[in-house]
Amino acid sequence: MASCPRPTVAATREGTTTVRAPGALPLVGHTVRLARDPLGFLQARHGGAPVVELRFGTGRVQLLTRPDVVREVLVTGHRSYDKGGPIIEGARTLFGNGLGTCPREQHRRQRPMLQPAFRPSRLAGYSPTMQLCAEEIAGKWQDGQVLDVGRQMNRIAARVLMRTLASGDAASTAVRQVEEFLPTLMSTAFRRVAVPWAWPHELPLPSNRRYRRADTAVRASIDATIAEYRRAGAPGDDLLGHLVGARDEAGTELSDQEIHDQIKIMLIAGIETTATALSWTFHVLGRQPEIERRVYAELDAELDGRPPTGDDLARLPYLTRVLTETLRVYPTVPLLSRVATADVALGGREFPAGTEFFFSPYCLHRDPGAFPEPERFDPDRWLSERVGAAQRLAFIPWGAGPRKCIGDTYSLIEASLALATILTTWRLRPIATAKVTPTVRFSLHPTGLRMTAERRPARHRGSGLDIEAA
Ligand code: HEM
Repeated sequence: MASCPRPTVAATREGTTTVRAPGALPLVGHTVRLARDPLGFLQARHGGAPVVELRFGTGRVQLLTRPDVVREVLVTGHRSYDKGGPIIEGARTLFGNGLGTCPREQHRRQRPMLQPAFRPSRLAGYSPTMQLCAEEIAGKWQDGQVLDVGRQMNRIAARVLMRTLASGDAASTAVRQVEEFLPTLMSTAFRRVAVPWAWPHELPLPSNRRYRRADTAVRASIDATIAEYRRAGAPGDDLLGHLVGARDEAGTELSDQEIHDQIKIMLIAGIETTATALSWTFHVLGRQPEIERRVYAELDAELDGRPPTGDDLARLPYLTRVLTETLRVYPTVPLLSRVATADVALGGREFPAGTEFFFSPYCLHRDPGAFPEPERFDPDRWLSERVGAAQRLAFIPWGAGPRKCIGDTYSLIEASLALATILTTWRLRPIATAKVTPTVRFSLHPTGLRMTAERRPARHRGSGLDIEAA
């Protein structure tokens, strides 16, 4: 996808060497190039200096290109960095101050309150719901139907998140509202975060009206669900029940607004990401017959045509490797950022407090030192004997350190169960004329991914014969 010229322009500033990315245009700097081809642009900056300066208008951002330098920011030196900068500010305005957007001070209170809702025993309890949601959505497909794969996976992920989040009458309404309105919310929200001025979003345009309607509906249904839980008094064994019952060290509970913000962040961070990972997996399986054959062989041998349970996942190691490799090649969050809260030294250079840093899981996952032939989709590179420190350092689809995705294991279980459920009954075939383009929105999206659903003959499920024969 990208050529890799080295960053070439060097200059001296305040006694340290600044490596600037070439190709900045007057006034806009690299803005247009990044907007036009973000993945190609970022990848072309890799392979040279550990820190490369990018210009956006009058602003400067430092792109970190080496896994060890990124680890310093996220893990070992994380106390000197925080979430910040225009993208995070925009996200705070839209989604509030939940776990993914809040500054570090608030994060230290919030994370321990939410973490228990994601511990293994809780996740095991969510598995049957996860499996059922995939079965419900895929159960409505017709043999030969052309699917908008992203849309279908979003419906599964939205239903899973809402049903593991809450139950009851208000929650059922919320499930419907989120399934209906979240796609609008996500696509418009991305534009709102990318265009930082308020006035274009106030114009009486159909897209602005659609956004407001979607936002109002989702807000109202979240608030109604919280109110129902408060009224019931006894929090259930789901995510919202946990949030309503959670207390911080001082014994203080979360306010309704705080719970609202947490739910909103879960919707934004937890649905499209997982849905996109699933979509890319189907895209890969459709184009790599040998990998597809091995996935079916494993599933049929282990499940013999029955629906999967959470306990089955440990016996599906090839499926797990395929998912892991999908997240390497198509990390659903392709670009992350941090702001220095103190003067820092990184990659042999010094930066004042307030410096903004970008780093890209998409690019780090193509680090040839960790992943030889990085563009080759090879699930077996995740065989345990082939995974060492270099791979662990460079592989960050869920981020790393204290702000690492709280839903990492949740999403892996959810995606594995959805895949196993769908593949037991269906085969998704690529459409020769469909052009699939990786598009950067909040997530790395397979635009144009449409596939044909083929029902597997009942006599073949559990045998893999239909797949062998193809
Ligand atoms: C394949 C699926 C997913 C991927 C690739 C993914 C990726 C990420 C990444 C990269 C971050 C770190 C952002 C940063 O360091 O700035 C993150 C944070 C977060 N994710 Fe996920 N995520 C996924 C699924 C989920 C799910 C299912 C949920 C909720 C159930 C979720 C909730 C969150 C939250 C709340 C945060 C903020 C954590 C914090 O700041 O403490 N994610 N995610």
